[in-house]
Amino acid sequence: MKKLICLGIEGTAHTFGAAVVTDKKEILSDVRDMYTTEHGGIIPIEAAKHHRKLADGIVDKALKEANLSINEIDIISFSRAPGLAPCLLATRDKVVELAKKHNKKIIGVNHAVSHLTSGSLFTESKDPLYIYVSGANTQIIALIDKRFRILGETLDVGLGNALDKFGRRINLGFPSGPKIEELAKKGKYIELPYTIKGMDLAFSGIVTDAINKFKKGSKKEDLCYSIQETFFAMLTEVVERALAFTEKKQALLIGGVAANKRLIEMLNIMCKERNVEFYVVPLKYSGDQAVMISWQGILEYNAKRKDNLNVDIDDSERTDEVEVIW
Ligand code: ATP
Ligand code: FE2
Repeated sequence: MKKLICLGIEGTAHTFGAAVVTDKKEILSDVRDMYTTEHGGIIPIEAAKHHRKLADGIVDKALKEANLSINEIDIISFSRAPGLAPCLLATRDKVVELAKKHNKKIIGVNHAVSHLTSGSLFTESKDPLYIYVSGANTQIIALIDKRFRILGETLDVGLGNALDKFGRRINLGFPSGPKIEELAKKGKYIELPYTIKGMDLAFSGIVTDAINKFKKGSKKEDLCYSIQETFFAMLTEVVERALAFTEKKQALLIGGVAANKRLIEMLNIMCKERNVEFYVVPLKYSGDQAVMISWQGILEYNAKRKDNLNVDIDDSERTDEVEVIW
C-alpha cells in the first residue's frame, strides 16, 4: 500500500516548526526555529510576527530535507489548539494559504494531545500512563474511555517553573533545572514541606520554604538536593497511585524535566517494583516540534477525519475535550 505522507506545522507558542512524517513512522525532516527574547517572557504578538516571517522558509526547508516536493505531500496538519491566540492565527493563516495554493487537505490537531500520542512514535510505548512535566505543565494523564483524562496535576506552577523560580532566587540563572540537578549531587537532605492534595500537587509553598532556609544560611547544594528529592518523591507517589488505579502496564515520561536523571531513576525504581514498563521520550522531542503534529495528523486522517477541514483555532481547548477516535 502507498505510504501516507504528512507535512505537519507547529506554531502555538515560541516555536515555529515544520516536519514531514510518514505513516510508516519515518521522520523525513524536522525543522524548527524558536522565538527568543533578551529579557523577560514571550510577547505573543512578537512571536506571531516571527512565525509569519519565517514560515515559508521553514516549510521549504522541511520539504527539501525530506527530499520531496509539495506535490508529493498527501495531507497538511497543524496545531489549532491550545496556545497563544496571535501565534495560532499566524500559523493557521499560513497553513490555509499553503493548502489552498496546492489543493491539500488540512487536519487541525490539539498540541497537548500530540505531545502524548507521539510517545508511540518516539518510543515503543502503547497506551501508557503519561507523566507530563514541563516548565508550565505537570499532569498525570491516562487514556480512559476515549478521552485523555487528567488524573492528577499541579495546583499552582509547573514542576519546571517551580525549579526555575527557586533557582533564580539562589542565583543560578535561567533555566535552573539542569543546574539544580548538578548541585544536588553534592547535597545532603534537609526537611522541606511535602504537599499532595488528593491526586494533585503543590510546589509553590515548598519553593518559598526553601528560599527562606537559604536566607537563613542553608547551603545551596543541600537545598537543591532536598527540593529535588521532595518534588520527585511527591510526583512518584501520585504516579504510583495512578498506576494502581488505572492498572496501566506502562508509564511514559514527557516534557523538559524528563531530562533529569534523578527523576528518571526514582520513577524507574517504582515502576520496576510494580512490574510496569517505563519509557522516556528522547530529549530531542520532549519540547515543541512539528514531528508530533505530523504524527497526530496521520492518526486522525487514518481514523476518520479525512474530510474534516477543521481550521478553527481555540486557545484553551483542554486535553480531555478531544475525543480519541484513532
Ligand atoms: P510547554 O509549554 O510545552 O509545557 P515549556 O516551555 O514550559 O513547555 P519545556 O521546554 O518542556 O517547558 O521544559 C523546560 C523546563 O524543563 C524548564 O523549567 C527547565 O528548568 C526544565 N529542565 C530542563 N532540564 C532539566 C533538568 N535536567 N532537571 C530539571 N529540570 C529541567
Ligand atoms: Fe508543548
